[in-house]
Amino acid sequence: MIEQPMMAKICDIQEESPGVKTFFFKLNLNFEPGQFVMVWIPLLDEKPFTISYIQKDLVGISVLKRGVFTNAIHSKKIGDMLGIRGPYGRGFSLKPDSNSCVVGGGIGMASLATLVDRLNLVVDKRRGHVTVIQGARTAAEIIYQKRFRDMKLCTEDGTAGFRGTTVDLLKDLLKKQRFQKVYTCGPEKMLYKVVELCGEHGIECEVSLERYIKCGFGVCGQCDCSGQRVCIDGPIFNIQELSRMEDFGKITITKTGARVIH
Ligand SMILES: Cc1cc2nc3c(=O)[nH]c(=O)nc-3n(C[C@H](O)[C@H](O)[C@H](O)COP(=O)(O)OP(=O)(O)OC[C@H]3O[C@@H](n4cnc5c(N)ncnc54)[C@H](O)[C@@H]3O)c2cc1C
Ligand code: FES
Repeated sequence: MIEQPMMAKICDIQEESPGVKTFFFKLNLNFEPGQFVMVWIPLLDEKPFTISYIQKDLVGISVLKRGVFTNAIHSKKIGDMLGIRGPYGRGFSLKPDSNSCVVGGGIGMASLATLVDRLNLVVDKRRGHVTVIQGARTAAEIIYQKRFRDMKLCTEDGTAGFRGTTVDLLKDLLKKQRFQKVYTCGPEKMLYKVVELCGEHGIECEVSLERYIKCGFGVCGQCDCSGQRVCIDGPIFNIQELSRMEDFGKITITKTGARVIH
């Protein structure tokens, strides 16, 4: 683990969609799918991102352009430096001998990408399979178009794949096939519905939860969700843990500490 930010040089940049770019670094990180790193831009801020690619000594973060910080990352060029510390948090637990479904909404797909890569490596092909569902508002927002073996797309406007939400598509698949485990990341309203659906079908489920992260290693309490610190107890939580977290799907804490309804 890197405990203080280490300045890493951007060695490649890949455009995944008009709003998402992946920045690659030559770094050796002992990273488990589901964990995250803190990315630092000196004199600006430090924010959490997951590792979306990992190959030998090459790691990548895929960044959706949203506000000041992500716009600043998008303005970086090959050769520029970013600070990186981590990885932090608890990752996904893999179930290689079963049929899994990985459900990603929007940029949530970035947090699931190395999980899909790892599952495809370790899955026992006689007994298990990995199905990926990627949902976006429209076709232009789809990322990693050619990356995974079995990826089903859905868009809210019907411009790519199934017309509807990831939850609609998961419901549809469950009429025809059985999954032993579902892994998911995306908007919290979507996560809540996926967890509900898994509960109804008796399917194991793990969720990557998002809360505002400041320290990233459990000291400031900013990322609290019903007594759980998302940065250290999560960001991955299972269905039993989530059932005890009353704020899940309902309340989040802003960077100034206000409790707001989702
Ligand atoms: C564990 C984890 C992993 C993440 N991985 C990725 C990723 O791989 N790719 C990606 O594009 N985004 C990821 N994010 C979200 C990313 O941190 C925010 O998009 C980014 O901080 C936005 O900063 P901004 O200044 O551009 O936007 P802002 O305008 O400040 O915020 C836009 C949105 O991002 C959220 N956000 C802002 N700051 C933080 C923060 N410090 N911690 C958590 N959320 C914040 C806000 O609540 C708001 O909803 C992840 C978040 C978490 C918690
Ligand atoms: S971000 Fe500080 S305790 Fe989680």
